[in-house]
Amino acid sequence: MGGCSILLRSSALTCGRAALIPAGRGGSVPRAASALCALRGRGHPLAALPGPPSWPLMGSLPDVLWKGGLKRQHETLAEYHRRFGKIFRMKLGAFDSVHIGAPCLLESLYRRESSCPQRLEIKPWKAYRDYRDEGYGLLILEGKDWQRVRSAFQKKLMKPKEVVKLDNTINEVLEDFMHRIDEICNHNGQMEDVYSEFNKWSFESICLVLYGKRFGLLQQDVEEESLNFIKAVKTMMATFGMMMVTPVELHKGLNTKVWQAHTKAWDDIFKTAKHSIDSRLQRHSANPQEDFLCDIYSGGQLSKKELYATIAELQIAGVETTANSLLWALYNISRNPHVQQKLLQEIQSVLAANESPTAESIKNMPYLKACLKESMRLTPSVPFTTRTIDTEMVLGDYVLPEGTVLMINSYALGCNEEYFNGWTQFKPERWLQKHSINPFSHVPFGIGKRMCIGRRLAELQLHLALCWIIRKYQLVATDDNPVETLHSGILIPSRELPIAFHRRLQLD
Ligand code: HEM
Repeated sequence: MGGCSILLRSSALTCGRAALIPAGRGGSVPRAASALCALRGRGHPLAALPGPPSWPLMGSLPDVLWKGGLKRQHETLAEYHRRFGKIFRMKLGAFDSVHIGAPCLLESLYRRESSCPQRLEIKPWKAYRDYRDEGYGLLILEGKDWQRVRSAFQKKLMKPKEVVKLDNTINEVLEDFMHRIDEICNHNGQMEDVYSEFNKWSFESICLVLYGKRFGLLQQDVEEESLNFIKAVKTMMATFGMMMVTPVELHKGLNTKVWQAHTKAWDDIFKTAKHSIDSRLQRHSANPQEDFLCDIYSGGQLSKKELYATIAELQIAGVETTANSLLWALYNISRNPHVQQKLLQEIQSVLAANESPTAESIKNMPYLKACLKESMRLTPSVPFTTRTIDTEMVLGDYVLPEGTVLMINSYALGCNEEYFNGWTQFKPERWLQKHSINPFSHVPFGIGKRMCIGRRLAELQLHLALCWIIRKYQLVATDDNPVETLHSGILIPSRELPIAFHRRLQLD
């Protein structure tokens, strides 16, 4: 293996793993090779990594299935980290990956990431874009093109000064959402399909930001176009998973039902997205700098196709993740009445009665921010993200070859006693103690140059939403804990989230 100098430099950044010498996997040959590599000061080879039992062809799939299946994979991965340590290797069928779940390894990765980090490819999305000659957005772009498009959007989406300007837009939708909750809750304060109602809120909110247009999803009679749009997003999400695990070329060649449904769904998404973006560009053509989207496009850094694709992907990435994070936060707060009381007091001490929260007022609510962080630690919407490394590197004393897929397990980090004392407890206070938490142990939005570009927008939406909801309703926990399951990489609560929304008396 080449690249010895890189490895020698990088091994200084890895954390000591003497106690974690591989157990199950490998056998005597890798151990011997491992010892040789270690002697040369280069680290152990990939084959020496520990990991769960692996069978020919299936890899560790039987073990994962036995432990609750792919839907409970986040818990299984956390258990594997407890068993095998900070870094381990796992094969699921032909999918081979190295899992990291320690702040020191994340920091090490972060310090050595390339200028254009890569995630795992979403092949079905690329296949559709190539088929219809559409552009790629941030979720699937790679290399210099990704860097160029990212930098065009980053200026607006990641700059706090720019994002705070969106608070009125977000509040407009939240005000309607409060009426909607009143309308749909029964006399016990419970709603029938909490999950879909919260998704409607985040869909409406992100669409207003991106397209500058209301889709009316929080009204009683929703227009046909909006219903088709939301349906298309659901179908697209429901069909791509199958083509991630079976060759998409085969689906396309055989024109399978999955391929047809996926293609039709993207056609509908692009139709509505293009129409809404074009009208926004036209509306602001005289003064493009005044508008969020037109300003990005007028910079001349990206093509129209890239604009359409990126906006569509921002919308898709921002709906379920945000809705879920809000639901989990409400759930965690409802189970901890003392937290809810303290949070209400903070909100009331900053805002006058009936005063709308703003980005400015949130600055004075440290406990609110701590509640969201704590909720995202315990129940992160996205429990892991991936990186495909583009150069050989040493992590945790192991030499990982170019092309290795890394799984960054944020869920496993959040439930590790070593990084979070009493990790099962919902304790927002832990975030208020200075320097007590290693920033690399909390990565619900990912890490480094490729981290979530919607992070600041999502946080603003969630902070404002929590203000509106906690001030207006007392959240009461009902029934048992919901089951958390993984769907398309997102951690979702069971549909009947056991929370009742009781209107507080002091409001009008
Ligand atoms: C609480 C809500 C959200 C969570 C938990 C979340 C989480 C994540 C995570 C974990 C990643 C992968 C980052 C990495 O690989 O390091 C990601 C990427 C991304 N997210 Fe989010 N996200 C949220 C909201 C949003 C919103 C509101 C938007 C759109 C405005 C958005 C757009 C994106 C995009 C475009 C990417 C890919 C970025 C790139 O590759 O350059 N996300 N998100």
